[in-house]
Amino acid sequence: MSLFIKKPLSDLLEDVSDHGKGLKRTLTAGSLVALGIGAIIGAGLFVRTAAAAAQNAGPSVTIGFIVAALGCALAGLCYAELSSSIPIAGSAYTYSYATMGELVAWVIGWDLILEYAVGAATVGIAWSEYLNNLLVNVLHVPPIPYELSHSPFEKSLDGVHGMINIPALLIVTALTLLLIKGTQESAFVNGLIVIAKVSIVILIIIIGWGFINPANHAVYIPEPSTYTDHQGISHNFGGIMGILGAAGVVFFAFIGFDAVSTAAQEAKNPKKDMPIGILGSLVVCTILYILFAHVLTGVATTEDFRTTGKEASVAFVINKYMTGYNWLAQLVTVAILAGFSSVILVMLLGQSRVFYSMSRDGLLPKVFSDLHPKYQTPYKANLFILILVGLFAAFVPGDIVGDMTSIGTLFAFMLVCVAVIVLRRTDPDLPRQFKTPLVPFIPILGVVVCGAMIFGLGWTNWLRLIGWLVIGFIIYFGYSRKNSVLRTRHMTVQPEDPKPGFIEE
Ligand code: ALA
Repeated sequence: MSLFIKKPLSDLLEDVSDHGKGLKRTLTAGSLVALGIGAIIGAGLFVRTAAAAAQNAGPSVTIGFIVAALGCALAGLCYAELSSSIPIAGSAYTYSYATMGELVAWVIGWDLILEYAVGAATVGIAWSEYLNNLLVNVLHVPPIPYELSHSPFEKSLDGVHGMINIPALLIVTALTLLLIKGTQESAFVNGLIVIAKVSIVILIIIIGWGFINPANHAVYIPEPSTYTDHQGISHNFGGIMGILGAAGVVFFAFIGFDAVSTAAQEAKNPKKDMPIGILGSLVVCTILYILFAHVLTGVATTEDFRTTGKEASVAFVINKYMTGYNWLAQLVTVAILAGFSSVILVMLLGQSRVFYSMSRDGLLPKVFSDLHPKYQTPYKANLFILILVGLFAAFVPGDIVGDMTSIGTLFAFMLVCVAVIVLRRTDPDLPRQFKTPLVPFIPILGVVVCGAMIFGLGWTNWLRLIGWLVIGFIIYFGYSRKNSVLRTRHMTVQPEDPKPGFIEE
């Protein structure tokens, strides 16, 4: 039977009515922009920016942000078309199962695990850095020892080896338990966190601007060279490759904007509001990110970010260079810890939704869609995800999980761009409330820009992505294909009595 067996739209609608998820059209373009900003500002800006400046691009990390934003905008337009073609809420996994078939859906679903689970681990590790900063610089107590707050693959500047990252493990555990209880962040709390995050970014830009040392920006795009960090890992630094590498690293800062596209069915006027929501939140964040990175790399030196300012870099920069603004560093630390928690929560929630859908489709074991008798949440999926995310958070360095998240998401975005071109040919009559403009030009450009960032992330990350996909294929061919609900049902249906609406190529 074909690898491209498709889930009929009627099944998808049935799945939705099963859960009584009738979604009201209440979101305006403004609320979609706020939703996007809430989901995206996090560790990418407050941790990965400094890493990209240190390892790849120096001040030209700002140009990396422009490349990353371009890739997101192009893929975002494609995402919006897919999400508006299928009149239910869901993720790229759901859309692709109905339109591109099971194998592509599996690859996208498997990649989304990288985006959400490994992404949550990355933000958990960033949370751990800022927790130590809170202990030392706000509460004035000793930090958690290096060994207990870093992975075994990390070494401090004075040669101490990490063992386990306990704070990162604790925060993902606490938030998983919260999710199991069914506590979703209220719109009010989310609104407060969005305001706090945006305010501190704007404050740092305005106050920090006066502390920029022009000497730090004298060579804006460094000459191409190789930088080997103190762990012995080499990076392309400077020039075009440096900018592309930085773009791949800071791409993490935009992850989550696709949350806007999954709300297509709740938008009052999707045709007009979706592009405004997606592009609007991207434009606002891109402007803030570029200005923020310009200030950060202007106030401190690239060398700072390679050494003492490698961790909790934003608080470090304020404390070291912005005399008289210690209060700002303290405020930033508290706001960042709250902001990171909300990003982790959104990612864990997204991950459990993907697992739940894949398990209901039989592509993952059924236990993952068991609901808790009291809380009605997919608690077994949540607990399994906790093990996965916990292992990454406790034992893998933030740089590695961050770049794995970026590369996995970039690959999923490329597939989404290709899907738009393919679907225009194979399903020209599919109702599309929002159409990507200039097809195939926009999707092709999306593939090229996202592909360039994957290229910039370097061969170690390509190998990690390939390894991840190989594991995914082993599970698909070893388990999922045999247990797919769609296939099992198809095999028991008599040829003269096909299930209405069943589509297969
Ligand atoms: N964009 C989110 C962050 O930067 C994932 O934390």
